[in-house]
Amino acid sequence: MGIKSLIAATATVAVLALGGTQPAGAAGEAVALPKQDWSFNGIFGTIDRAAAQRGLQVYREVCATCHSLDYIAFRNLTDLGYSEDEVKAIAAEYEVQDGPDDEGEMFFRPGTPADRFPAPFANEKAARASNGGAYPPDLSLIVDARAGFEDYIYGVLTGYEEAPADVTLMAGMSYNKYFPGHQIAMAQPLYEDGVTYADGTKASVEQMAKDVTTFLAWAAEPNMEARKQTGIAVILFLIVLSGLFYASKRKIWANVH
Ligand code: HEC
Repeated sequence: MGIKSLIAATATVAVLALGGTQPAGAAGEAVALPKQDWSFNGIFGTIDRAAAQRGLQVYREVCATCHSLDYIAFRNLTDLGYSEDEVKAIAAEYEVQDGPDDEGEMFFRPGTPADRFPAPFANEKAARASNGGAYPPDLSLIVDARAGFEDYIYGVLTGYEEAPADVTLMAGMSYNKYFPGHQIAMAQPLYEDGVTYADGTKASVEQMAKDVTTFLAWAAEPNMEARKQTGIAVILFLIVLSGLFYASKRKIWANVH
């Protein structure tokens, strides 16, 4: 293998291993999204633990009334810097349905770290019935499921405004700059000081939006950091290997003129 094709192969593997953090999304949003600096973007990006913990608080106190988080178990929260005991305590604050018991009845018990976040509604119909017919989507994968990714989620959470004079809002709808079509069935969820942060951070709408989006970005891809680290290790390995190959090539061909 020539050094050029080796470099090309290295680059290909590097691209495959590191990738973007997300699949390419459809472009063409009518309104340009405000771009934020996200700690987790880029090859060396990591989840800002403090922001994600504040985001968990926002999810639990605001979003969880309407949105499920089906794919996240309490024990996953150790990724965010919580100790096992803290995770146990958080889980125990929830009532989780279990069963059937010996009588064939379902029952509720306090959550354990192995449980997932319980959903606010029993099923989609119940969720729609409580939300004027609209379905609040599960938030576990939402960051990766929308074009614009984290900037879009942040945009929707901060994009509420007075509808322009020429727009007639349908019943139960709110005007949102960044939501496609601008009429969204989710009433503005974040208001200044909507939560009181344990770490004393001022809970502005932007701050809460950024924190909960960071939390949801982690939820969508809890293995992101490990994946990036593997990618970096693979590249370092390939660089060393390329050097070895090149050295042996020179040695083997040294006497050929
Ligand atoms: C009172 C219920 C309610 C609360 C509280 C709520 N949402 Fe929603 N949310 C909805 C509904 C209903 C929809 C569907 C809107 C639609 O399709 O028009 C929705 C949609 C969304 C969407 C998807 C938008 C899209 O592009 O389809 C995101 C993201 C979202 N909510 C995030 C959040 C976050 C984060 C919070 C907490 C800060 C939150 N929501 C709080 C009811 C709620």
